[in-house]
Amino acid sequence: MQYSQKVLDHFMHPHNVGKLENPDAEATEGSPACGDQVSIFMKVDENTHKIQDVKFLSYGCASNIATASIITDMAKGKTIEEAKKITWKEAAEELDGLPPVKMHCSVLAVDTLRKAIKDYEIKHGLAEEDKFSTDKIIEELKKVIYPNVGEDIVSLKMVKYVGFKDGTAIVDVEIPKFDKYRDNVAEEIREHLEKFKEIKDIKITM
Ligand code: FES
Repeated sequence: MQYSQKVLDHFMHPHNVGKLENPDAEATEGSPACGDQVSIFMKVDENTHKIQDVKFLSYGCASNIATASIITDMAKGKTIEEAKKITWKEAAEELDGLPPVKMHCSVLAVDTLRKAIKDYEIKHGLAEEDKFSTDKIIEELKKVIYPNVGEDIVSLKMVKYVGFKDGTAIVDVEIPKFDKYRDNVAEEIREHLEKFKEIKDIKITM
């Protein structure tokens, strides 16, 4: 697999590794694509809402370590509003790219950072837990990467319909019968949606 020099540098010498004692916020997320995990800890200035310090622990692959390293670099010193806007594409670009099959590692890093920010906002009365709706399902599907090109299935317009009724999530995906990633994509959709307690059943049509 071809990695950029920057990915290798961050993997060999990761920045911001470790755990913060008494963090103002923290989050641990796992990637449904591979089972790898990352934890992020943050100290936030209560007045300016700037991220003063941020560290991570990785339980995953080289790209997991490199993306967590770069995302914590990118978030440090930003306000939580600014940090929320960092996208997984920007994180991958900052690393001079990632192989398409490793794009989900960048999704995981951004997802964990956003979850830690949400944790801070909820603890400080700045936000409430999200209400469940089809929008939430679509947001989640934006984290499912089509490994052939390293883009998410929503941006690629592969998702043709999303519904939610009586606890059943319905997702219609356009993907050729002969596509080698077909089962992989279905499995990943399922694993992403299974984590919502509101979803009791998942129907995927292809
Ligand atoms: Fe899953 Fe990198 S985080 S292979």
